[in-house]
Amino acid sequence: MNEKSIRVFASATVANVASGFDIFGFALTNPGDEVVAKLSDSKGVHIVQITGDNGVLPLDPKKNTAGVSVLKLLKHLNIHEGIELEVHKKMPLGSGLGSSAASCVASVFAVNELLCNPLTIKELLPFVMEGERIACGSAHLDNVAPSLLGGFVLIRSYDPIDVIQIPCSLDLFCTILHPKIEIRTEVARKMLPKEITLQQHVTQSGNACGLIAGLLKNDAELISKSLHDSIVEPVRSTLIPGFKEIKFQAIKSGALGCSISGSGPSVFALSLSKAQAEKIGRAMENACRNHGHECTVYISEINQNGPVVLTC
Ligand code: HSE
Repeated sequence: MNEKSIRVFASATVANVASGFDIFGFALTNPGDEVVAKLSDSKGVHIVQITGDNGVLPLDPKKNTAGVSVLKLLKHLNIHEGIELEVHKKMPLGSGLGSSAASCVASVFAVNELLCNPLTIKELLPFVMEGERIACGSAHLDNVAPSLLGGFVLIRSYDPIDVIQIPCSLDLFCTILHPKIEIRTEVARKMLPKEITLQQHVTQSGNACGLIAGLLKNDAELISKSLHDSIVEPVRSTLIPGFKEIKFQAIKSGALGCSISGSGPSVFALSLSKAQAEKIGRAMENACRNHGHECTVYISEINQNGPVVLTC
């Protein structure tokens, strides 16, 4: 009987970061999911337990995002050993925090470790991307890449995959407000315009490039000026009750900027200290509750490390 096992944490992420739809994201230190992976004598991938999902996620590995990612990895490696997975969800589903991405990343990272790292971290990207395709019908990388690599990550190209880590030495803090509603990414993608004007492209590209330059130059003012999304946020914010007021209160409380995290409903704000992030969180929470919605606030640093092995 093979008893080798490993427990891995992979973090939540903020995708898009205002102007970088599908091409930019960053990793949080919390919340995140945990996965236990074990080598098993029984061939194939077996998801033996999922907790924290209120029973909604499938145990069938062919229908489960983590299962699909691991199946693709094993097929690629031509490995026929059995793998058992336990998936422990520690963040809400459909929250805009990259919940499915965190489970895929933790699973694929854990299995790669169990197999003594046949692939580099970056080589794992195509497999976690397949999990996203199952989760929301689109294989975007702006959640999985930051969760896997840590820090701020730019997806320069999808075909071929080319991801670039963007270093920043500012002590940035992120406030996340999660209103307790669920938005399915698939639905939030379908509402987006298929075409944009040249002027919209110019404005959005200017802000996306300004954000990258601001991070690279550790220039908080430039980051602040660039945290604007004139294409996606105006459409999707209509799904988030009280969004305008939540954002107004975040900026008024000193946030560098504030926008929708991924496809929502979570809203993120960046700031330069923990105290500021907490103050912003209180203001966002009040605004959300004033609109009659329950919510949770998370305060997080930027996670520079990617997945962490908790026990092995
Ligand atoms: N870039 C994706 C979207 C992220 O906005 O649809 C989803 O979490």
